[in-house]
Amino acid sequence: MNERKIILTGDRPTGKLHIGHYFGSLQNRVKLQDEYNQYILIADVQALTDNFNNPQKVRNNIKELAIDYLACGIDPNKSTIYLQSMIPEVAELTMFFSNLVTVARLQRNPTVKTEIAQKKDLFGNNGESITYGFLGYPVSQAADIAIFNADIVPVGDDQLPMIEQTREIVRKFNSIYGKVFTEPEAVVGKFPRVKGLDGNAKMGKSLGNAIYLSDSEEEIQRKVMGALTDTTKIKKDDKANPEVCMVGYYHKLFSSKEKEEVFNECKAGSRGCVACKKQLAKNIIEYLAPLREKRRYYEQHLNLVDEILIEGTKKARKRAMEVMKQVKSAMKIDYFK
Ligand code: TRP
Repeated sequence: MNERKIILTGDRPTGKLHIGHYFGSLQNRVKLQDEYNQYILIADVQALTDNFNNPQKVRNNIKELAIDYLACGIDPNKSTIYLQSMIPEVAELTMFFSNLVTVARLQRNPTVKTEIAQKKDLFGNNGESITYGFLGYPVSQAADIAIFNADIVPVGDDQLPMIEQTREIVRKFNSIYGKVFTEPEAVVGKFPRVKGLDGNAKMGKSLGNAIYLSDSEEEIQRKVMGALTDTTKIKKDDKANPEVCMVGYYHKLFSSKEKEEVFNECKAGSRGCVACKKQLAKNIIEYLAPLREKRRYYEQHLNLVDEILIEGTKKARKRAMEVMKQVKSAMKIDYFK
């Protein structure tokens, strides 16, 4: 029998997940877990690279993230959810990989560049206070992926440079020490990015324009009522363009049944924005109801969440230790066997 291919994916535990994450990656992960051997990492070590001064935030978000995963339908019997910091072999491999990448190459990584520019408070106006750890996080991410010899990494398009850099490092390792690692492939979801309630191209916590998977019915209602609509529509029966309206945009995601009717009425001027938003809020609430129910279950069974993380980490570490053995032998540091 063919062994299942390995998927590695994960998130930094720095905040709650929103519907952008859901359509961009989580939905896909739920599907993939039936066909692949899927590892999902909670990247707490990576989260600390730009939250080293706020460890409590990272800690608080570990269980939040795990519950978000479980609420979405990640099944711990099919997927392995684990904590990055509890696999010290990843840190070890990061150290070995760091010899195989130049500082200049890291400074050119577009994702790192963008993030440094966004984090002026931490890294200075021109990145002059950049830490060694943050600049090097692509190396640690390469170790995350390589230590399971992952075949596939499903990611958002912003992460493509990370996978490219991983491939380079792995190739270099294999060419110097002999073939240990698989070159992973990035797979970008077909719905890579969901726009924010305000029309911003990105939904995000810092932008205050997100609908979270854990939002209550009231919060969803309130947020949808505040969403950006076609600004040329002033009166209730003005004709409008649903294609330039965030409510229309989300109807496409949540209202397969009513979408056509809603769009036609909007264009004809026979549906006002309030009615349109009410319909959308109702649909989102219904769509997310099973997730809220699962979340409630796990919130009432937090011990079970702990157990899932402990078991997942144990399983992941076992695999990481096997690969690490091959690494050390290839690098001739397998002393005293
Ligand atoms: N960089 C990812 C993020 O910001 C998290 C992450 C860490 C990751 N290691 C990974 C993603 C390995 C995919 C594969 O969310």
